[in-house]
Amino acid sequence: MADVVVVGAGLSGLVCARRLDEAGLDVLVLEARDRVGGRTLNEPIGAGRVVEMGGQWVGPNHAEILRVAAEVGVDTFPTHIAGQHLFAHAGRTSRYRGHIPSRIPLGVLDFRIAQARLERMARDIDLVDPASTPLARRLDTLTAETWMRRHMHTQSGRRLMRLSIKAVLATEPSELSFLHWLFYIATGGGLDSLIRTDGGYQQDRFVGGSQAIALRLADDLGDRVRLSSPVRRIEHRSDGVRVHSDAACFDAAAVVVAVPPHLLTMIEFEPALPAACNQLSHRMPPGMVTKFVAVYPEPFWRAGGLSGHATMTDGPISMTFDNSPPDGSPGALVAFALGDDARALERLSAEGRQEAVLDRLVELFGPRAADSVQFLERCWGREQWTRGCYAGFFGPGGWTSFGGTLRRPDGRLFWASAETAVHAHGSMDGAVSAGERAAQEALAAVGVVPPVVR
Ligand code: FDA
Repeated sequence: MADVVVVGAGLSGLVCARRLDEAGLDVLVLEARDRVGGRTLNEPIGAGRVVEMGGQWVGPNHAEILRVAAEVGVDTFPTHIAGQHLFAHAGRTSRYRGHIPSRIPLGVLDFRIAQARLERMARDIDLVDPASTPLARRLDTLTAETWMRRHMHTQSGRRLMRLSIKAVLATEPSELSFLHWLFYIATGGGLDSLIRTDGGYQQDRFVGGSQAIALRLADDLGDRVRLSSPVRRIEHRSDGVRVHSDAACFDAAAVVVAVPPHLLTMIEFEPALPAACNQLSHRMPPGMVTKFVAVYPEPFWRAGGLSGHATMTDGPISMTFDNSPPDGSPGALVAFALGDDARALERLSAEGRQEAVLDRLVELFGPRAADSVQFLERCWGREQWTRGCYAGFFGPGGWTSFGGTLRRPDGRLFWASAETAVHAHGSMDGAVSAGERAAQEALAAVGVVPPVVR
């Protein structure tokens, strides 16, 4: 019998298990996949180098993940961003510096005015319980798209805002609750922080790839992490839990479920979860991203004065970054297909997707972009144990009808995952803070520490 079973060996579950272990509890982590790291994943690109196919960037205000990375000895390095960026809009590509393309001044002005308005409204959002924000219901029943149509005045400004929403949440503004958009801006420390490289979310990367953090956390836990052990059923009573995985079943005093809310539908609970919790699992869908990486012998775009960062208002990809290892060898460009663009690419064959992405890279970076020596793709919507990313979000009405159950413990059941975070919701940092919080709650439940006051 374990003290606590943790379901899921993503960052959230692993950090939770580490804290429980440090407190002297007997902990067991059950992971469905044959690897740890969940939405962080390294792929080899030769000569001992890796590139990240899942979460990768970290910002200066992501103190929780930075602290855990330091604990396990994983360093950061700055994202390569020196040089001019590219902006492709209305059939034309231009160069720019800074973090917003200046070619469409009226659109940029419209965007900046809307941004100021959004950030003002975001300051009023109650991060712990967005549903109790003044006028929450009204904000929650609007979509981000409806708000833009009402309050933005130029088509180009709206296209910039749509691009920002897609880049940040991997969803179409028409699918997104306006309250969730405001909450996301607030939880991320402002819109600039979400979209910027220097000083923002994309400032740094982890040496050896972000999955190195999960791999080291799991190494420290040793055989207390069981891979290829999908949890199918959880029986929970007032005196303990029984967790059934494919391999075996385990009794424990408590269970921390560290999977995104939409994956709760894959687990049978006995007795059934409260109605609001069951419904929540259908109301917080994940975004949709396919991440492509084209590898080259060297980052050839740098010699041409380009940073490798491009933004596009038309698909099939919406943004690229230089994703080369710290020493720039080999060169790597990462490209993101987001929301409907990613869904449209799924209708093509793998070869068709590669051709479409490389053609776009050639338009942006010139003919050398066709000569990639390795081409990688990862569609997270296709992954059985993820089913979309970067994270779950609320559509219209979601926060005010279901938000209250997001991380509320139910007897001996506790909830982690990046979707339950208050700060940096949906990010690696959020995953870590959610794991820390769930560990505190589970410790209180088994009588080790007093309950957390929230
Ligand atoms: P995560 O999903 O990682 O872990 C859950 C684990 O539970 C998985 O390992 C899964 O296999 C397992 N599981 C599911 N069901 C189970 C069951 N029934 N039984 C047992 N195990 C089960 N963030 C960031 O900070 N910077 C960034 O640049 C990006 N970019 C980005 C790009 C892409 C393409 C993705 C996919 C994601 C990002 N993110 C990101 C988001 C970030 O990666 C993400 O929020 C965290 O890694 C989530 O960690 P969690 O532990 O919460 O969930």
